[in-house]
Amino acid sequence: MFQFSDLSIPIIQAPMAGGINSPELVAGVSNAGGLGSFGFAYSTPEKIQADIQAAKSLMNAVPQSRMHANFFIFEDPVLPTSADCDAALKDLNEVLSPLGISAEFPKQPFIPNMEAMLEPIWIERPDVLSFHFGLPSHGVIEKAHSLGITVGITATSLDESLQIQGIGADFIVVQGIEAGGHRGTFKLDQSNSIDQKKSLKDLLLELKEHISLPLIAAGGIMNGQEVSRVMQWGAVAAQMGTAFLVANESGASPAHKRLILNHHEEKAVFTKSFSGRWAQGLNNQFIEQMKDKTVLPFPIQNTMTASMRRWAVESDQSDYQSLWVGQAFAKSRAMPVKDLMSLLHQEYLDSSTLSNQRTS
Ligand SMILES: Cc1cc2nc3c(=O)[nH]c(=O)nc-3n(C[C@H](O)[C@H](O)[C@H](O)COP(=O)(O)O)c2cc1C
Repeated sequence: MFQFSDLSIPIIQAPMAGGINSPELVAGVSNAGGLGSFGFAYSTPEKIQADIQAAKSLMNAVPQSRMHANFFIFEDPVLPTSADCDAALKDLNEVLSPLGISAEFPKQPFIPNMEAMLEPIWIERPDVLSFHFGLPSHGVIEKAHSLGITVGITATSLDESLQIQGIGADFIVVQGIEAGGHRGTFKLDQSNSIDQKKSLKDLLLELKEHISLPLIAAGGIMNGQEVSRVMQWGAVAAQMGTAFLVANESGASPAHKRLILNHHEEKAVFTKSFSGRWAQGLNNQFIEQMKDKTVLPFPIQNTMTASMRRWAVESDQSDYQSLWVGQAFAKSRAMPVKDLMSLLHQEYLDSSTLSNQRTS
């Protein structure tokens, strides 16, 4: 089974749902000795299989290349009252009507069919399978293990990490508050009060004391020096999302890439307006307009804003896209993924040599 020591560079390109992880990006990272990842949260089984096969065909020439597939754990949301549903739809449509578009209340079922989504995984057998927002069933972990697939789960706290260790997973993705995209908290947290909001360093150092599973560091890691630093705090590898968003092969929208590279005076903010779950990204008009408005639970709100987000990408309108980024987005460097991987590798080797010299 896959082990992180198999990687020639201890870097995982983060799974990022929504078309960002193109097969070219995933294969580029893996072919360079890291772990390329697909975020398949909202994909159909057909698209999952096609993406994996496309990446495999780009990885054929490099036999030791590895692949990682990631899914969300969707819980059936507690159905909001019809008054809340009406209020949320009215609030959203008030924002959308000046743009000439409108939203509808989604049809049931609100959550995708996990069993069907995992079918292509059992056929294609990526080396690594991971989950965000909670624990998969025992059956899923057992099935993965029987096929030689390593299983990981995101944690944002010690309590979640103990649950992950207890269920028999193989590694933990330790998500600090610096991380871009959705917080991986297990519980839906409408008021944002359950989340302990720990920094990556504090969380890693705490988990190192209590957890025996390999820890993967995620949140605000943008260069090779920072990869080396999280290894000193106890991680076996670094999972980097934002750093790969501006790679040439990334499927992030042109507006997303443009703002990451040009809006360095801004700070990333947390919002639940797009999806109903807290996520970190660049501020825009939609987030401002939705403050104090009714927001439905994940993933109902996410489905309800989907047509707006699609329209915004098609019309290159950054104010109505979810522009997820981590807090260190200003350190992003745009270049082909192959060049980014060799730069990260060199920086990592240089700073590891330096820190070894300091300790010897
Ligand atoms: C655009 C974007 C989309 C993301 N989508 C996912 C996802 O589908 N699954 C997941 O486990 N994590 C997702 N994340 C979170 C990453 O796994 C990781 O925690 C985060 O990128 C680390 O912080 P950084 O962006 O500062 O590197 C996403 C992050 C970003 C920036």
